[in-house]
Amino acid sequence: MRAVQFAEYGGPEVLRIVEVPVPEPGPGQVRVAVRAAGVNPVDWKIRAGLFAGGKPLAGPRTPGQELAGVVDAIGPGAAFSVGDEVFGWALGGAYAEYALASVVARKPGALSWRDAASLPVAGEAALRGLRQLGVRPGEVLLIHGASGAVGSLATQLAVARGRASSGRRDRRSTWNPLGRRRCATVRGSSSGSAR
Ligand SMILES: NC(=O)c1ccc[n+]([C@@H]2O[C@H](COP(=O)([O-])OP(=O)(O)OC[C@H]3O[C@@H](n4cnc5c(N)ncnc54)[C@H](OP(=O)(O)O)[C@@H]3O)[C@@H](O)[C@H]2O)c1
Repeated sequence: MRAVQFAEYGGPEVLRIVEVPVPEPGPGQVRVAVRAAGVNPVDWKIRAGLFAGGKPLAGPRTPGQELAGVVDAIGPGAAFSVGDEVFGWALGGAYAEYALASVVARKPGALSWRDAASLPVAGEAALRGLRQLGVRPGEVLLIHGASGAVGSLATQLAVARGRASSGRRDRRSTWNPLGRRRCATVRGSSSGSAR
């Protein structure tokens, strides 16, 4: 199969399209025929070696943390079937024709491949933040950067759980479709909150 790989840390110029073996799923894993791979900021940070602690790359690596696609093979104990449409976290890189995964969910039919592939990393960050905060239904939650990838997902998750959420007042018309109910200005000269 074809995959994008890098064999040294660096800028986009280190990326190559190469032929590699199709991976075999292990216990609890599925192999996904990738329809879309998320291009997340963390991908370039890994490629640039920002998480390497100064150590050289051990071997060629395929980027891509998030994917959407069709289950093509299943490992022992995997709770999916061949043909399932899924999205989730890639094991070993999603910038490839096939990728392994163990943390996936069924893709709703109304969700496009591209949209589904953009959700896992930012969605996990949003969900983790909400869980760490332990916000209870009825409490007001102020979300900085609510128009961004993590913020917009945190807002929708919070509203889906019955929590009011907040954002910049000057973006209120943009935010209403996401379910934001109260808005507050967090930069610029004005401050405070408004309905
Ligand atoms: N994306 C991910 O998958 C992910 C995963 C884990 C952690 N994170 C981290 O989460 C944070 C947000 O990432 P993101 O991907 O959501 O970023 P993003 O999509 O670029 O959104 C950034 C948000 O911050 C707002 N903002 C920028 N400068 C600001 C300022 N000076 N004052 C107030 N608001 C400001 C932006 O508002 P405007 O739209 O008005 O500019 C926007 O709402 C980053 O620290 C990132 O490293 C991201």
